[in-house]
Amino acid sequence: MLDTPEVDLTVHHKPADLADRIALAFTKLLRFCADTFFAKRYGHRAIVLETVAAVPGMVGATLTHLRCLRRMCDDKGWIRTLMEEAENERMHLMTFIEVAKPSLFERIVILAVQWVFYIAFFFLYLISAKTAHRVVGYFEEEAVISYTHYLAEIDEGRSPNVPAPAIAKHYWKLPDDATLRDVVLVVRADEAHHRDVNHGFASELGGIEIDHEKVAPYPSHADDIRMSA
Ligand SMILES: [Fe+2]
Ligand SMILES: [Fe+2]
Repeated sequence: MLDTPEVDLTVHHKPADLADRIALAFTKLLRFCADTFFAKRYGHRAIVLETVAAVPGMVGATLTHLRCLRRMCDDKGWIRTLMEEAENERMHLMTFIEVAKPSLFERIVILAVQWVFYIAFFFLYLISAKTAHRVVGYFEEEAVISYTHYLAEIDEGRSPNVPAPAIAKHYWKLPDDATLRDVVLVVRADEAHHRDVNHGFASELGGIEIDHEKVAPYPSHADDIRMSA
């Protein structure tokens, strides 16, 4: 039996102001694009979207680092949290690349999207870090939903429940007989954690006190992400 943290699938931050509403509308637009482009090819969807998901943490960490240097202030642990989020998303990518292989067209899409998204998110974070974290919170709400759909595809036999890739077994400390279904469960739990952390950061930047107890628990990850040869 897997020790996967319980995930509250129903968490949704109700937009509280115009910036929240714009963040939600932007997320829904991207969701529509992803649904149109990938339909039910969940492995391919995961690969392309994880290349995007791994960007905000690193941008947020960089800009928070620079702000703390300028203001000579404490980061309250945000920098490491955001860097770890970026690393975690990269591990999602490295896992799903073992499950599905991106086509040449998808690789070109990844290249183009990375240029546009990195620059856009960088400037959004500079202008309004609160809105940037809210956008990520909404992205992660959608990630939880997408991985729930992926689970249904596996459970209903439309996607084969292949053995878990070695990299995933190492990173999430899964048993030897773990399968893709187990991997999707822990990835979804990661996304739920990012969702709550980013909505929390956005609220904190908006001056709202956060109940840290409400953050979805993070699955256990390997201390050293590299597998020994
Ligand atoms: Fe992810
Ligand atoms: Fe995520």
